[in-house]
Amino acid sequence: MTLRVLTGITTTGTLHLGNYVGAVRRAIAASREPGAESFFFMADYHALIKCDEPARIEASRLQIAATWLAAGLDTSRVVFYRQSDIPEIPELTWLLTCVTSKGQMNRAHAYKASVDANLAAGEDPDAGITMGLYSYPILMAADILMFNAHRVPVGKDQVQHIEMARDVGQRFNHMFGNGQDFFVLPEASIDEEMELLPGLDGRKMSKSYDNVIPLFEGGEKALRDAISKIVTDSRLPGEPKTTEGSHLVQIYDAFATPAQRQAFRDALHGGLAWGEAKDQLFTLINAEIGPMRAKYEALMANPEKIEEILTEGAAKARAIAAPLLARAREAVGLRRFKPLAAPVATAVKTKSAAPAFKQYRESDGLFYFKLLAADGTLLLQSTGLPQGKEAGQWVSRLKREGAAALSEAPVTREAADAVLLPALDALVTAELEAAAAKG
Ligand code: TRP
Repeated sequence: MTLRVLTGITTTGTLHLGNYVGAVRRAIAASREPGAESFFFMADYHALIKCDEPARIEASRLQIAATWLAAGLDTSRVVFYRQSDIPEIPELTWLLTCVTSKGQMNRAHAYKASVDANLAAGEDPDAGITMGLYSYPILMAADILMFNAHRVPVGKDQVQHIEMARDVGQRFNHMFGNGQDFFVLPEASIDEEMELLPGLDGRKMSKSYDNVIPLFEGGEKALRDAISKIVTDSRLPGEPKTTEGSHLVQIYDAFATPAQRQAFRDALHGGLAWGEAKDQLFTLINAEIGPMRAKYEALMANPEKIEEILTEGAAKARAIAAPLLARAREAVGLRRFKPLAAPVATAVKTKSAAPAFKQYRESDGLFYFKLLAADGTLLLQSTGLPQGKEAGQWVSRLKREGAAALSEAPVTREAADAVLLPALDALVTAELEAAAAKG
């Protein structure tokens, strides 16, 4: 089976040199390798969560599309599309929303960070928080599960979202898969180097630090100006420079061959002036991105060309998404009308033997709980807790969130994951079903 690799780029703002080195260049190289089938898309629905200025949304998705194409994305090899051109994605989002526990979304980093910021500012915890932000991980799960992607290259900040996508996919499989795996459970692939390109001041290159080197924006002049602002030490021309730990050298390395790296170091050790070093850095970077910039400008002047490419990409993507969504609708019961197989009321659910929690108090006066499989095997054992209420709260949280609560819960795992995780999943499913039955 070919490995499916999928990643999305939120279309707010424009890309800088760090995005190019960390994401664009790497993803394009990976897509040229045999054996992988790549999906790249512009996460413009996600962009709406962060930005309510239509003109910026419009500009950014065009600029980012042009950037990827100019950087050499081969759209005959990869499926390249706009998220908002795939109506199956929001529809799947809803089906997934209905099997996602709210408690788990409460723990999403982006949402939690906003709540924490509100609390720190003495505001209402939910001030300014939209349902879009809250549900962000479910839309992202739909992006990934829609195409049964195996691997999702992302930055470290997105790893939790991929884990959530796995959880949601697993729950759907469990509830509606009828013994088959409906969705592939994706894995994050994190490249350490993805974070690496330093900015002008040596911190990670990021818009929020205001230390970026633009990629195409502002043309050659902007590139040269930014490079001239890279902070260096104050050693004079002729003085030997230390290259260890110099972020100017690190940026150079990102574009250089091993031989060029060595020559650059030798020259600096031999007293090359920083100003001269910056000229060399500019020449090196511009040799790689100059030709791309020309393509970028040509594309920006002909947006209908990009529109055409993306329309084709959307058709390819929908050819995969539509049948999958049709199966998902069928699975949850959104089916074409036909005579019912059996009166719904008499359909008896065979209750599978479920695992169960036991709560108890020991002679040490502390409160404990444990999770037992249907056959009585011990799966989880809690530590002693001073309050009975606390034990009760952990039990309900584990029932609601399953494995997602495991790392925080005061428990030791007493069974292999292969036994424990399905048991926890069965608990969550039972909770959701019980809640659904209550209507
Ligand atoms: N949330 C991702 C980011 O901000 C972008 C994104 C949206 C994404 N959907 C995705 C990445 C699906 C990978 C897979 O970087």
